[in-house]
Amino acid sequence: MTKRTTARTTKRAHRLLFSVALVLGAAAARPLHAQQPGQPPEKFENLKVFPKDIPRDTLLGIMRRFTIALGVNCQYCHVSEPAPAGAPGPRERLRPALDDKQTKLTARFMLRMVHSLNDSLLPTLDKRHTPAIQVTCATCHHGSPLPQTTQAMMMETIGRAGVDSAIASYRKLRADMISGRYDFREGPIEDLALSLATSGRTADAIKLLEMDQEFFPGSPDVDATMAEVYMKGGDKDRAIARYRAALVKRPNDPRLLRRLQELGVTP
Ligand code: HEC
Ligand code: HEC
Repeated sequence: MTKRTTARTTKRAHRLLFSVALVLGAAAARPLHAQQPGQPPEKFENLKVFPKDIPRDTLLGIMRRFTIALGVNCQYCHVSEPAPAGAPGPRERLRPALDDKQTKLTARFMLRMVHSLNDSLLPTLDKRHTPAIQVTCATCHHGSPLPQTTQAMMMETIGRAGVDSAIASYRKLRADMISGRYDFREGPIEDLALSLATSGRTADAIKLLEMDQEFFPGSPDVDATMAEVYMKGGDKDRAIARYRAALVKRPNDPRLLRRLQELGVTP
């Protein structure tokens, strides 16, 4: 390598490191208090995205942020193996230099994607918000290894295991609402119910809305959505009853009044 390329590479590496630190908010990377499991090696052997001379604390700070952003532990991306018999310390030893897990390879791709968003694509946006907003792992992942909307997650479960299983898993996930992985407001279920109703799955849509109503008993929107689902299913009487129930919760709502008028009934 010529001197010039070396200088250029080093400069690029430092710019990358700087942007990574920014991206991950790791400006004040703290050392890990409890490294799990086993101590990471002193020298890094297999870095393909971060600069080879990245300080240990910085890298570990970034790794820790990965675990928080995705709601996982180190072993989600790194293989670990039993420590040699009789060795002091933890019984499992992390082998972070190995590329044996697909999740680690995906994470590398994600790092490159985040850099290209922040360093190439977003800077070309006209009239950008000031200060500019950086994309980070957490922007999409929100504490979840697979960033999915509530609707997409439910749709996948319904497709795989049916609506009753999806409802059961929603209840379970809801109990862990504080993790912030999914949006448990009433809207996502209403949205999902409407798209199921559009594809003719009225009964599934109603089951979901009945669950939603359990969590939001005072909401006229759940009733109004039920009414829309019944209309799509051709059940005019039930639709009317639901619009009326919604109107009790939100009297004089012009949209609800108009719907009832369209159905030829008085509120
Ligand atoms: C979301 C996936 C992911 C998680 C979770 C994760 N890492 Fe990593 N780790 C990576 C990737 C990707 C690299 C390689 C980066 C590169 O190629 O520049 C890496 C590299 C490393 C390295 C450098 C290995 C070497 O010698 O090349 C260490 C050490 C490390 N991780 C430790 C940890 C620790 C400790 C944790 C838990 C606190 C952790 N990692 C959590 C994805 C992850
Ligand atoms: C722009 C949104 C976005 C950002 C930002 C993002 N990801 Fe992802 N990530 C995704 C999507 C979408 C998938 C699922 C891709 C697929 O269909 O397999 C995913 C999947 C993953 C997976 C695989 C999970 C699994 O179980 O298969 C890992 C690991 C991951 N991301 C790590 C990261 C890390 C680390 C960062 C930050 C450097 C990051 N992601 C930033 C959108 C994002």
